Amino acid sequence: MSSGSEPGPRPTDEELAGMSRDELLRLGGKLDGVEIVNYPEPWPVKGTRAEKRAERIIGLWFLLAAVAGLAFLVALIWWPWQYEPPENTDGYFWYSLYTPVLGITLGVSVLALGIGVLLYGKRFIPNELAVQQRTDNQGRGSAEIDRKTILAHLADSGERSTIARRSLIKRSAGLGAGVLGLGAVALPLAGFVKNPWAHPDSKESLAHTGWKAQFPGEIVYLRRNTGNPEEVSLVRPEDLDAGAMETVFPFRESERGDHEALAHALKRADNPVMLIRLRPDDAERVVKRKGQEDFNYGDYYAYTKICSHVGCPTSLYEQQTNRILCPCHQSQFDALTYAKPVFGPATRALAQLPITVHTDGYLIARHDFIEPIGPGFWERKS
Ligand code: FES
Repeated sequence: MSSGSEPGPRPTDEELAGMSRDELLRLGGKLDGVEIVNYPEPWPVKGTRAEKRAERIIGLWFLLAAVAGLAFLVALIWWPWQYEPPENTDGYFWYSLYTPVLGITLGVSVLALGIGVLLYGKRFIPNELAVQQRTDNQGRGSAEIDRKTILAHLADSGERSTIARRSLIKRSAGLGAGVLGLGAVALPLAGFVKNPWAHPDSKESLAHTGWKAQFPGEIVYLRRNTGNPEEVSLVRPEDLDAGAMETVFPFRESERGDHEALAHALKRADNPVMLIRLRPDDAERVVKRKGQEDFNYGDYYAYTKICSHVGCPTSLYEQQTNRILCPCHQSQFDALTYAKPVFGPATRALAQLPITVHTDGYLIARHDFIEPIGPGFWERKS
């Protein structure tokens, strides 16, 4: 060692037990070959105005971190985040501010917390100047003496940082870090918090799909996706051969020519429905679900395409076995028994869309599904 600080004889266990923290601190330094060159108290006279001012400034930064963190939480929960088209000037203005507001409030909170911590370290932690020559203990574990002296070092650092008696800084730092931590937890969870029963008739409700009539008496047709939303191809019963399956989407006359609404109806995740025409022999073996005896139209049965396991599209229909297959986890549903699951992880039948034929000869939905489609969610009542 070349530190100039010679270790000297090691104290016995009894001597060690009787040593004060200060003595242990110096002993630890000596044993490690550490020479403390300068170890000044940052505030040798306690309670000076300068010390109090420094404490208040640091407390203010932590408080700012808490206020900005709180603003972040409030914006995350209550700010109007749903998309508004630019034509809706007012709504679009507030919507367009959502991301910047989240970024600014979170940024200010993290920055203020960081500045508070930096200032505390600069103003209150002693600026010790020490020189140490490190040695390798060649894989031996720490001896009792090392553990004790290190603990003494840590305790001394804590005490000399004066944090124990700075309740303003402790409280404001706790508040700032706490609110920011809450925001960090809320951020990934916020998207999952939804109450589908709060506004059961709203567009966002999980209880309804695009098949729901928007006013009493509205006709909702079954249409194909031709690749062009505005090219509307409705479905007649004679269009499908026995044993065939076709994917259909809702169409309402009020949306004809409205590209955005038509495209939305084709893209909305809970709209796709499998229209199946059973072979006559198979249709005779159908078992209908209680309360859904009149949901089919002759040999035509319509089931949601959204798997009741975790929501993949159940896009395969096997004509020979009348099984509907979900490629995600291989669930199988029996089209002859109200699409009841017969294999795989799904536990609920696929929801059935009630259909009939309108006076103009096209297939229409009689009304929306009578239960939420797709996988379970915690508020689901059926
Ligand atoms: S999503 Fe269909 S089986 Fe898992």
